[in-house]
Amino acid sequence: MLALLACAGLAGCAGELSTLDPAGPAAHSIARVWWWMLGVSAIVMAGVLVLAAMAFRRREGERLSARGAWRMLLLGGVALPCTAIVALLIYGLPAGQSMRLAPPDAFVVDVRAHQWWWEVIYPDGSGQPVISASEIHIPSGRPVTLNITSGDVIHSFWIPRLGGKIDAIPGRTNSLHLTADAPGEYAGVCAEFCGAQHARMRITVVAHEPDALAQRLAAMAEPHPAHDRLMQQADFVRQCLACHALDPRARPAETLAAGPNLAGLARRATLGSGLLANTPENLTVWLRDHQLLKPGNHMPYTDMTDAQREALAALLGERHD
Ligand code: CUA
Repeated sequence: MLALLACAGLAGCAGELSTLDPAGPAAHSIARVWWWMLGVSAIVMAGVLVLAAMAFRRREGERLSARGAWRMLLLGGVALPCTAIVALLIYGLPAGQSMRLAPPDAFVVDVRAHQWWWEVIYPDGSGQPVISASEIHIPSGRPVTLNITSGDVIHSFWIPRLGGKIDAIPGRTNSLHLTADAPGEYAGVCAEFCGAQHARMRITVVAHEPDALAQRLAAMAEPHPAHDRLMQQADFVRQCLACHALDPRARPAETLAAGPNLAGLARRATLGSGLLANTPENLTVWLRDHQLLKPGNHMPYTDMTDAQREALAALLGERHD
């Protein structure tokens, strides 16, 4: 029975948002601390249950002496918790400290949280950053430093399989150091309540082999393939460009109303920060019903016909390849 329960419990340890399925050194140390805490607390719990059982089996009239009672209090109430906490600190503090050290030769990405999406800024050598959103492309097997801040309220950045969470605070930059051991996709969430759509603020880290990453970054710096045709659309210029940029090297979103950069929109996997798969049909639906899909988001209703939305979604969804 116990073994069955344990199996059922452990099955919950896998999954894209599981800290117990670590995929990098920072997440491994967190998972180790967690398993040690579970193991030690299970031993302590078992000890307490045994003592409780012994107490219930004690016969009438058979009482602990005052001295014995004091000894129990000191052992169980002072010595045991102190030992457990000190052991945990000795084990846990170095693990936390090792995550604070900025690794040399790290790949650096700036991340800015917004209600309710993540802006991702790749500083390049020329000093002109490339701006994207919702996905962070990193090299696998190489340390990554994420400089995290917020454009509005306090959020919390968390990629459970890669490391711990860190607050995204307006006016302050917190650094998080992660390494993804292998190429792949690692899901993330906002881990601090930040308003109505806090739960719909997903982010994905995509770890690539170096060559694939170089290609991806080069593609991100290119202008939108339909740039010129989009700029001829009066509706797009008047309604969308008030808040979104079409140039991947435009400035990061600084006002509350600013939305994700549209240059690399077609390459991103989802719309609305993980809400819908990114297809032309869904983009058309999003342009019409985004306030139903993600109520309270800062994008105002668009004043367009369905045909206009469809045409705009087709243009925005064009890809180079
Ligand atoms: Cu952003 Cu919760």
